[in-house]
Amino acid sequence: RKEKVTVPVVFHIIHNGEAIGTGGNLSKERIDRQLEILNEDFNRLNADTTETLDEFKALASSFDIEFIYAKQDPDGFETSGIVRIPGSLVDYSYQERSILTAESYWPAEDYLNIWVADLAGGSLGWAEFPISNLEGLEEASNNRLIDGVTIDYVFFGENPDSPTFESKGRTLTHEMGHFFGLRHIWGDGGCSVDDFCEDTPTARNSSTGCNLGKITCESLDMVQNFMDYTNDACMNIFTEDQKSRVRTVVENSPRRLSL
Ligand code: ARG
Ligand code: ZN
Ligand code: CA
Repeated sequence: RKEKVTVPVVFHIIHNGEAIGTGGNLSKERIDRQLEILNEDFNRLNADTTETLDEFKALASSFDIEFIYAKQDPDGFETSGIVRIPGSLVDYSYQERSILTAESYWPAEDYLNIWVADLAGGSLGWAEFPISNLEGLEEASNNRLIDGVTIDYVFFGENPDSPTFESKGRTLTHEMGHFFGLRHIWGDGGCSVDDFCEDTPTARNSSTGCNLGKITCESLDMVQNFMDYTNDACMNIFTEDQKSRVRTVVENSPRRLSL
């Protein structure tokens, strides 16, 4: 299949009882802009494509995937695609993810669930790998009740006041890469460990900040890749091999129909 794929998304805003637009109960504008950023990044429509190093420009790709707000809820009623629920915990650790997802959940066979909450321990986000025989996806669980992506509310959308780096909404872009089967650019190991994409240069370790001249293995590291740990302002590229991996998952992977 060559045409664009459209993915219905539901945002579960799990807050602490704040009014809409304050604290973790993020405004509609903040969510709208995050969805827009996700679509820009996945389709090479981000304004900073011009920043991609010349060495890597030819490898850049558009995934031809559009994320839209779900228009019908699981009962068939009209919805905005945004659910706001006060959570049972003040914040959630990765170990508590099944508590978080149980606060609000739509069937993962029909929707892409995105949970937004206060995450414990400084975690920016996490995602579930897809069920697939592609190399590097052995860690996927078969629990559809936690299938989706989780983002800390501080790093969701644009937030000039986020700690460590200014959030430009790229945590969701990065986690969505994992959701569709992408591994970290450095393969979570040294120079001999791969991310199963030939056109991403091997790297010894993750990158922070924006160190564009970094060489850790044989050639220039691709620190601008969305699957590195670079600052949001420094990320701007997915490659062709990352695209073919993601398209294989999108077009063939069942999303946990069995449990
Ligand atoms: N640490 C998280 C992960 O491994 C996300 C890091 C996102 N980086 C960023 N610049 N937004 O999934
Ligand atoms: Zn990651
Ligand atoms: Ca690679």
